[in-house]
Amino acid sequence: MSAVNEKKVAALEAVKYIKSGMTVGLGTGSTAFFMIEAIGEMVKNGLEIKAVATSEATKKSATNLGINVITLAEAKRLDVTIDGADEVDEDFQLIKGGGGALLREKIVAHNSDLNIIIADSSKSVSRLGKFKLPIETIPFATQLIIKELNEMGLKPVQRMNGDEDYKTDENNDIVDIDIWDTNIKLSDLEQQLKAIPGIVETGLFLTSTNLVIIGKGEQATTSK
Ligand code: A5P
Repeated sequence: MSAVNEKKVAALEAVKYIKSGMTVGLGTGSTAFFMIEAIGEMVKNGLEIKAVATSEATKKSATNLGINVITLAEAKRLDVTIDGADEVDEDFQLIKGGGGALLREKIVAHNSDLNIIIADSSKSVSRLGKFKLPIETIPFATQLIIKELNEMGLKPVQRMNGDEDYKTDENNDIVDIDIWDTNIKLSDLEQQLKAIPGIVETGLFLTSTNLVIIGKGEQATTSK
């Protein structure tokens, strides 16, 4: 079965956790899109929820499907957030941000009572780091951050959009780094990165996930 179908299988399992009256965080990416589509269907059939989007792209898709999107400030707190991941390990640690939405995704996850990650089976790994770790940086500082990350041996590459610098929804840059060969503990690495002025956020989500739903073949496997 293709990764696309596995994404859908995981998304359809995750939306079972959504009930009327909830405020729901909507993730970003191709897997999350299947969840948004399913919620759109549920809303057509009478589900009443409010939603907070983790990106402008997600906001557009959700609004087009008739989902009531509010701001995080209006929501104050979220009952459940469903989002994708680029990699997930057995300890529910994630790399996120392949789609560039890591900053808002981390903020929404932090403010959510239940965080569900949905993914196809290719995202499930025994060790994080084959996927390059996205770092969001303030444009004023990006070039000097790249120099510093190079000195740390993290092989930084600024993300591009054709000939232009890639820009996030917050108008920041993304630098993708290679953490595979580093032997620093992930939580220490996260701290070291966040200590560099101008790094706004990293795509390491180490403690926020409560539930992982992996689509494999026709089956969705839920781990708590
Ligand atoms: C968005 O910035 C990311 O964190 C996505 O959640 C992640 O890249 C997964 O995307 P796909 O579901 O498209 O693989």
